[in-house]
Amino acid sequence: MIGFSRTAEELTCDGVPLSAIAAAEGTPLYVYSAAMLRHRYRELDAAFGDYPHAIHYAFKANSTRALVAELKALGSSVDAVSMWEVQVARAVGFEPRQIVFDGVGKSDAELESAIALDLKAINVESHGELRRVEAIAARAGSIARVAIRVNPDIDAKSHPHISTGLKINKFGIPTDDAQALLPTFKTRRAVHLVALHVHVGSQITTMDPIRRAALKLSELAHDAQHAGVALEYVDAGGGLGISYDGGPVPSFRDYASAFVDAIRTTRLPIVVEPGRSIVGPAGALVARVLDLKPRTATSDFVVIDAGMSELMRPALYDAFHLIEPVDARIGGLRQYEIVGPVCESGDVIGRDRMLTPLEVGDLVAVCDAGAYGAVMASNYNRRPLPAEVLVDNGSWRVIRRRQTLNDLLALES
Ligand code: LLP
Repeated sequence: MIGFSRTAEELTCDGVPLSAIAAAEGTPLYVYSAAMLRHRYRELDAAFGDYPHAIHYAFKANSTRALVAELKALGSSVDAVSMWEVQVARAVGFEPRQIVFDGVGKSDAELESAIALDLKAINVESHGELRRVEAIAARAGSIARVAIRVNPDIDAKSHPHISTGLKINKFGIPTDDAQALLPTFKTRRAVHLVALHVHVGSQITTMDPIRRAALKLSELAHDAQHAGVALEYVDAGGGLGISYDGGPVPSFRDYASAFVDAIRTTRLPIVVEPGRSIVGPAGALVARVLDLKPRTATSDFVVIDAGMSELMRPALYDAFHLIEPVDARIGGLRQYEIVGPVCESGDVIGRDRMLTPLEVGDLVAVCDAGAYGAVMASNYNRRPLPAEVLVDNGSWRVIRRRQTLNDLLALES
């Protein structure tokens, strides 16, 4: 069994008891399964079969060095959304031509270094940004490789905070405007249009938005080809959801076939930018129970030592993460409101959960926290960032040490 599974009554990661890791490294603690990470990557890669493709793992989901180094070893490339992510990718050994640079607000300084590095593509999000890229490249005497991020006005049917493909969202250039831009690339000197890009949202759990985005991308790529622009590839973005609650989600095979079926006629390679679907199921947040107190006649509060400062998703998106006792006690199920230590009523990690009895000192695992967990952690309430551990082949190592208060105070006068 790879990933997080229960042997007898104990929750393990790749067979290593979480209780042993927590005893050695303390809590709160992110634990990742190297085997699961590799499995997810390989499964997506295989789903494309022989069709030319490149997986540009989205660093925003989790860019801890050891994890992205694992992905690099498997053949992954990079989707970065800031020059800092680009620099982390470079530090791990990725080549500039393995990096696409996304993001709705890139500073001039970021564009200058992206152009100087000659990244695989700068995905431009507006006419204004295209003009800035062009001006900076012209000044530097270079030709910037750009992709147009198209906003296709497709509803991802995901949480409003993470739906990006509607006209009302801040992302991309509307389809008609993008179409009108295509022929202008024949005469632009300082920019070279290498791709078209669509990303309609994250945690997409139905095929319909994915299919529609794929068709739109294909249509636009044909338009570009008719306009005499020789694209190098199309970029289909990320967005495939994972099952946080055991409900059905499309498979990697469904996802890849939707793109291959739609794009095949363009004969262009496909780039995808998955984040969550690769790393989400490979991580859990392990926390200890600090306190229990009555809530209603039939339920109790369980206060744990991880909250919105370690995992912001429940507070920010009302997101569901399965929570499991690490060592399940014998006894009937009880109803618990699992809350963090942060001074906010919204600091709830799990509402109305039915679990075997918990006691102070017990460990719990917040599952599927590998994506948008550690990267979105904060120092609110002066809480140091948690440690991160990678389990690989029967043993584990700390891949990011726990922050200390001294680390924080070192920045201050
Ligand atoms: N490409 C672009 C242009 C994106 O904006 C994103 C995610 C991705 C790729 C990767 O998407 P994924 O495969 O992970 O769905 N913090 C939120 C998710 C924000 C997603 C932002 N963009 C959460 O915790 O659910």
